[in-house]
Amino acid sequence: MPLNSAQCLRQFIRELEDEGDLLRITEEVDPHLEIGAITRRVYELEEKAPLFENIKGRKGDGLFRVFGAPVGASRLPGKRFIRLAKSMGLSATATGPDIVEQVCRVKQRAPMPPREVPTGPVKEFKLFGDDIDLTSLPVPFLRQNDGGKFIQTYGMYVVKTPDGSWVNWSITRSMIHDKRSLVGPVIPRQDIGVIRQMWTDLGQDMPFALCFGVPPAAIAVSGMPLPKWTNETGFIGAMLGEPLDVTKCETNDLLVPFNAEFVLEGVVSRTETAPEGPMAEYPGLVFPEQKRQCPIFKVNAITYRHDPILPVCVTGRAVEESETIWAVTQAVEVLDICRAAKLPVKMVWSPFESHCLWFVVQVDRRELVALKTNIKEFTERVGRVIFSSKPGFYIPKLFIVGDDIDPTNLNDVIWAEATRCQPFANEVFFDEYPNIPLIPYISHGIRASENHYKVVKCCMLTSEFTDEVLPWKVGSFRGSYPEDLQQKVEKNWTKYGFGEVTE
Ligand SMILES: Cc1cc2nc3c(=O)[nH]c(=O)nc-3n(C[C@H](O)[C@H](O)[C@H](O)COP(=O)(O)O)c2cc1C
Repeated sequence: MPLNSAQCLRQFIRELEDEGDLLRITEEVDPHLEIGAITRRVYELEEKAPLFENIKGRKGDGLFRVFGAPVGASRLPGKRFIRLAKSMGLSATATGPDIVEQVCRVKQRAPMPPREVPTGPVKEFKLFGDDIDLTSLPVPFLRQNDGGKFIQTYGMYVVKTPDGSWVNWSITRSMIHDKRSLVGPVIPRQDIGVIRQMWTDLGQDMPFALCFGVPPAAIAVSGMPLPKWTNETGFIGAMLGEPLDVTKCETNDLLVPFNAEFVLEGVVSRTETAPEGPMAEYPGLVFPEQKRQCPIFKVNAITYRHDPILPVCVTGRAVEESETIWAVTQAVEVLDICRAAKLPVKMVWSPFESHCLWFVVQVDRRELVALKTNIKEFTERVGRVIFSSKPGFYIPKLFIVGDDIDPTNLNDVIWAEATRCQPFANEVFFDEYPNIPLIPYISHGIRASENHYKVVKCCMLTSEFTDEVLPWKVGSFRGSYPEDLQQKVEKNWTKYGFGEVTE
């Protein structure tokens, strides 16, 4: 059976090309800033994803072509989420809420572990030891204030616990350090950090594989904060309805997707560190002087397929993969967590303009009224359930809205906050939960408490907690006129002399 767009990057690229959402760029481009600048502009214009085929400094058919904005938003009419949907084997026209609901349903399925195969395209070419020179590769230098060449912006780290019982696939950035090594943060609270600590406790370096150009479903799930001790591989199998084919590394016993474009194998040093960064992160800011001491990732082998592809994410102002993948999959997790806690929640969404920092929780009002609760009690409960969860580490601001508000419509969310959220009375602050330090005001703002505050804003009026029927009417075209008059006005719109309305 041919592989589909979620199982194979090359099929994903073909399908985007057929849809008119991909541009092959054969003009020579400079990996020094030019690839980054083009990709950034693509995100900001929601343009076709660029596949750079002619990179200055690339040797023959070797490492590598570059694929920019792999899951940026799309300008194709009715298909803004096509790249995310095709990454997950869903319909090209799926909306954001469709994707959240469908991925949330995958959580109810039994995991489907991967299938080990003896070899695959990723083993076509192999380099070992001193034949490796990462500094000779045309690795893009993505933005002028970056501290180095970030080869790893959209690749998947594979690590496992020393006893092999928990395998983690995740995305975390890394830059080139020298010929044979990378350097990058390993956040202790993330699964890769928890697993590294287990190796450190045994006095050992942690084996890793860093896989580029993996099946699109694999990279999407790698950016998802699944609960600890969950193997991403089983979740991906459940999502695709088929096990993923994986094959063994050359220098360790980690399993990697058999059709990855290329894989770096090695160990994360338990003792050696080097300065890393800065890099413009998902909140859209970079502090040019900010370097951090981070672990060294030593590379012992590279395997790759013919004419391989390096996917690249140029984080910064929205919308890029931080929003389309990370925020959307966090919304899935939060929705699932709320449902498990029996909270009356219909949908969760993170407005892309908030750079993954606002999450909007839409309640089911009928169920809320049946709960016989009140603003204070409910807001506190929602805050505790979400902020104490794994994705809660990344989320500082929650907005609770009624089901007359569309959480994916920022105009609606702002209207609800402005008109229904009374300062202090409708807000609950928490300072007992940690925050990811990548939020600019956490590392560069006022330190008002040990962990910094998080907030839940309840953007609902008291009556919404008690009355089955809302006591207000909306002052709008839809809310203030009988339906037959609305239809007449719409029908006669151009007759009155106005232009066509495109929605
Ligand atoms: C495109 C993209 C880039 C990311 N880059 C980073 C990163 O550089 N550092 C980081 O801590 N998390 C990053 N993340 C988020 C983590 O991948 C995500 O939180 C994941 O759930 C962490 O893995 P874990 O669930 O195994 O702890 C990124 C996510 C995406 C989608």
